[in-house]
Amino acid sequence: MKTRKIGIIGLGHVGAHVAYSLAIQGIADELVLVDQKAQKLESERQDLADSVAYLPHRVKITAGGFADLGDCDVIVNSTGKIELLETHDRLSEMDFTIAAVRSYAGKIKASGFDGVLLNITNPCDIVTRELALMLGLPRGRVFGTGTGLDTSRLLSALSRQTGIDHKSITAYMMGEHGAQQFAPWSCVSFRGVPLDEWAKTDERFRFDREALKKESIAGGWVTYAGKQCTEYGIATTAARMVSIILHDEKAIMPASMELCGEYGESGLFAGVPCLIGANGVEKVIELPLTDEEMREFHACCDGIRKNMEHLSEI
Ligand code: 2OP
Repeated sequence: MKTRKIGIIGLGHVGAHVAYSLAIQGIADELVLVDQKAQKLESERQDLADSVAYLPHRVKITAGGFADLGDCDVIVNSTGKIELLETHDRLSEMDFTIAAVRSYAGKIKASGFDGVLLNITNPCDIVTRELALMLGLPRGRVFGTGTGLDTSRLLSALSRQTGIDHKSITAYMMGEHGAQQFAPWSCVSFRGVPLDEWAKTDERFRFDREALKKESIAGGWVTYAGKQCTEYGIATTAARMVSIILHDEKAIMPASMELCGEYGESGLFAGVPCLIGANGVEKVIELPLTDEEMREFHACCDGIRKNMEHLSEI
């Protein structure tokens, strides 16, 4: 019988929480942990292994190297240097993270890995593109958590504001997993009833849209301020995406994905709603954006492209 094997690269705050989420939710049967810091790796392996006896599902936890990732169904890439985020700008990590993934992407490839790689490492859109180019897997098999996490923040804000449960709300953050993102309000709906319709009769739906957008963008920094990392939001976002892949759910969720003409954009990865299944992102969903929203999206893409100019200097 096939078991679900997930590799995790980078066992810092984020990677360790992803591992624990995958274990505690019964999403993985086997976790292979990879980190360049030998003692940190051994400590996280031990701590996770200590939880196994009382987890609801059996999980095998091992520490390994890149060569052990070859037969993983999914790899989660979560390398980072969290202290560099003191600037509250994910680009601050770019010199470190791009150099890091360049140093080991060839090893992932050499392992024979032929599954789906989900990237968390920031700046997410740019690092995901770098990994996709270096791994050379079919389109969609490398994608990033991207604005999937920011969308979770938006859904929470919308739920608090309207009193409607997150799962009954359709909403997306799009663009960069960073300051350059926006919420296309024309596509927000509550089980089929558009936000603008609700707003006609119910004042809870006549909220300050700009404020909710800003709250969604800033959420990570509120978390970072008091604990110098973010953990639960990103771990749950990644675990949800891994679960979608393993169950071939064909669920639609925002993610960082390569654009090949969708929304009139190409040559970059950006946060867009994606149909996700066993092959990773199987389709980019093109929302019927208004002209103004389309302009906002292009502005986000221009910003990502501008940040990509720095790649040649690393
Ligand atoms: C987050 O948004 C910092 O990218 C990280 O939680």
